[in-house]
Amino acid sequence: MKDFKYYAPTEVVFGEQSEEQVARLVKKYGGTKVLVHYGGKSAERSGLLGKICGLLTEGGIPFVSLGGVVPNPRLSLAKQGIELCRKEGVDFILAIGGGSVIDSAKCIAYGVCMEGDVWDLYLGNATPTAMLPVGCVVTIPAAGSEMSEASVITNEDGDVKLGYSNNLSRPKFAIMNPRRTFTLPPYQTAAGVTDMMMHTMERYFTKDDDMDFTTDVAEAMLRSIKTAVFAVLRNPEDYRYRAQIMWGGSLMHNGLTGCGVTDDWATHQLEHELSGMFDVTHGAGLAAIWPSWARYVMNENLPRFVRFAVNVMDVPNDFTDPEGTALRGIEAMERFYHAIGMPTTIRELIGRDVTDDEIREMARKCSRDYTATCGALRVLHADDMEAIYRMAR
Ligand code: NZQ
Ligand code: ZN
Repeated sequence: MKDFKYYAPTEVVFGEQSEEQVARLVKKYGGTKVLVHYGGKSAERSGLLGKICGLLTEGGIPFVSLGGVVPNPRLSLAKQGIELCRKEGVDFILAIGGGSVIDSAKCIAYGVCMEGDVWDLYLGNATPTAMLPVGCVVTIPAAGSEMSEASVITNEDGDVKLGYSNNLSRPKFAIMNPRRTFTLPPYQTAAGVTDMMMHTMERYFTKDDDMDFTTDVAEAMLRSIKTAVFAVLRNPEDYRYRAQIMWGGSLMHNGLTGCGVTDDWATHQLEHELSGMFDVTHGAGLAAIWPSWARYVMNENLPRFVRFAVNVMDVPNDFTDPEGTALRGIEAMERFYHAIGMPTTIRELIGRDVTDDEIREMARKCSRDYTATCGALRVLHADDMEAIYRMAR
């Protein structure tokens, strides 16, 4: 069994009244002047932004604001945020939004405490020694950034999307009110669910078969979220199932489902090139890649793919044909993606055929100019990456 550390320091405040505690939480974690960071229109439209700003004012906490974070958040806006925080003497970043806003907030929080260019962290050329504390008010369950150590940023110069992980960046607190997710459109809901499931699947498909507890927890989470997504697509205002999804999104990416196993992340890395090049929704990009990745690697641990088929996708186990059972599990996952409105090919994702040049370019970027591999269940080199993109086209 793989040795592991489990570190999940984020204080989670969950439920309908959770937002009321924002000023207390900011103070608790040392904030005396706050940057309120948010995305496009959704937080303004719902009144959440106004409510949070009002609560900070009532709590006697001065703040400045920076909105405009877009999905696949841009480095240029984070750099504006760094300048603003320095000018205004900000010592706490409050993200109101989803993964994109939280990741942008983490990037700003690193940058304020660094002398050099914050992009060097994402390039692997620098290591932070400190960062400003980050708290969040989550509005979309998906990326799990509210408890994770990761931040994913897109540098418009070259359309390069890179992640950087460091335990320093795990948010101090996460406020989660499932009611705030009632306004999520079906596509965002489904893409979010796809992403959170993938965070657990990236850890589930491993060669380490001896951590049964982690595997059982992962399967229960995957089954539970599969049920919940149909309930909220039928009724977007179903508090009970919105709550399952919201809590699931955090637990499926806070490290719990990776304890004692070697994680993979190839599907994520292959997807980051799709969202870097085509600016697509991350979760939808994952659905377009995963079935092809799964077919490409399944023989590395066939029993695990059989287990997934039977325990998660309810496929009958044909003991005489494990490969057939595994393949039927992948097909059942494809049917699930289609049932919730997700694509299973790049064509469905971007609405046209991807060209050979684009495939080669994504493989080049994903392999860092042919110097890096990705994945662990099967280590993928640039030619494997290209092969998977071709299978997924
Ligand atoms: O900008 P607004 O108007 O707020 O609209 C957003 C955005 O268009 C909308 N939205 C959010 N809350 C809403 C809402 N619409 C209606 N009602 C609400 N309550 O949803 C859209 C998507 O938001 P975004 O923050 O981009 O979604 P998500 O949480 O899926 O984040 C995606 C980003 O996270 C990264 C992805 O690569 C992508 O850039 N990831 C970050 C990870 C991490 N830090 O650990 C891990 C993930 O694997 C992922 O890579
Ligand atoms: Zn993800």
